[in-house]
Amino acid sequence: MGQRVLVIGSGGREHALAWKLSQSPRVEEVLVGPGNDGMRDVARRVDAGEDGGWAQLARREKVDLVVIGPENPLVEGLADRLRAAGLAVFGPSAAAARLEGDKAFAKAFMEAAGVPTARAEIFDDATRALRWLDEHPGRWVVKAAGLAAGKGVIVCDDAAQASEAVHRIMQEQAFGTAGATVVIEERLEGPELSVFAVLDGHRAAWFAPSRDHKRLLEGDRGPNTGGMGAFTPVPDVDEALMRRVIDEVLDPTVEELRRRGLDYRGLLYLGLMLTADGPRLLEYNCRFGDPETQVVLPAYPGDLYELLDGAARGHLPVEGGLPREGAAVGFVLASEGYPVSPRKGLPIDGLEGAEGLIFHAGTRRHEGRWLTAGGRVLCAVARADELGEARRRALHLAEGLRFPGAQIRRDIAAREAAS
Ligand code: AMP
Ligand code: GLY
Repeated sequence: MGQRVLVIGSGGREHALAWKLSQSPRVEEVLVGPGNDGMRDVARRVDAGEDGGWAQLARREKVDLVVIGPENPLVEGLADRLRAAGLAVFGPSAAAARLEGDKAFAKAFMEAAGVPTARAEIFDDATRALRWLDEHPGRWVVKAAGLAAGKGVIVCDDAAQASEAVHRIMQEQAFGTAGATVVIEERLEGPELSVFAVLDGHRAAWFAPSRDHKRLLEGDRGPNTGGMGAFTPVPDVDEALMRRVIDEVLDPTVEELRRRGLDYRGLLYLGLMLTADGPRLLEYNCRFGDPETQVVLPAYPGDLYELLDGAARGHLPVEGGLPREGAAVGFVLASEGYPVSPRKGLPIDGLEGAEGLIFHAGTRRHEGRWLTAGGRVLCAVARADELGEARRRALHLAEGLRFPGAQIRRDIAAREAAS
């Protein structure tokens, strides 16, 4: 009998997950909760409303596997509750998701595991943090320790900016309780890299690495965003460098999880910086990245259901590097005003009849029209044999989608595709 999968979440990442899962010959139906209107071709939308409702809904719908997309429900323990209800779940326990939910915990974990990372100091007292900065002038990155929707990291050019960041996070509580503790760490330089590993509690398999573009504007200028576009593969990462990432970062992490008895059956996202001294881990995330997932999955020729279901049940069907077919590039279309105060409710043209992979993040169907409904609205993706061609096709697809004030970074993968 065909399998039924429930994907929890509502963004472009979840659209890509639902799309890829729906292609598995073993999957009969994908449900997405709450999802968005743009996913209707690949999944049926459901909503559990109140928390706790997901377990009931999954049982009522005879769901065989639950895939949890975003970090918040993971950090809050949704995977534990669903497992306690007897469901197979792809997503780490709350105790393991602390690797993303608590940057102070993550830093201590990295140090215990011997993973190369930026040197850091941790403070839960603003006066002490400010005094320490006075005594240690330099270029620091100041991070709110808790979850802050990707906004809690302030990269500083000098000591004055770092003090200002501590003031905003700890004294003005710009990110609420997420900023009760701060991590102040050495500012590193280099291109970034996203590595997605699938863990089954014992072993790991990993996708081809990808690269996000976090800044809003071309040339890596402007404020940080959730991500304006991504691509895979990454030409400046050869097999030897990837081997270092596995040997120096992933393997010691899996070993430390085991040593601590942490149950990790889900996706472990390594956010790395490739410095002149080698790869350094900036952060762990406990879920797939957005928008990297929108390019990593189209370039993955395997059966995603088998992979995630195997991980959820503690038996990965494969180990090591996963295959990749060609290249994929994705351009995000974001609303005017994003990331600060996105304008919503504007009509979108060009979706009807568009040919290509378009993942919906913030859209809504209203009286027969598509409207914008969020900061990041769409992600236009193309796959091809090589990066340059994928980039050309994806940009063409993105430029055919129009709404007032749309922001697109046209330089996604530009440098890498030219090299
Ligand atoms: P995080 O959420 O910790 O990955 O931080 C978000 C972004 O801030 C990263 O993707 C980097 O662009 C930047 N960042 C974080 N830590 C550092 C660091 N130690 N040095 C330079 N940039 C950093
Ligand atoms: N693309 C960055 C993230 O998902 O955190």
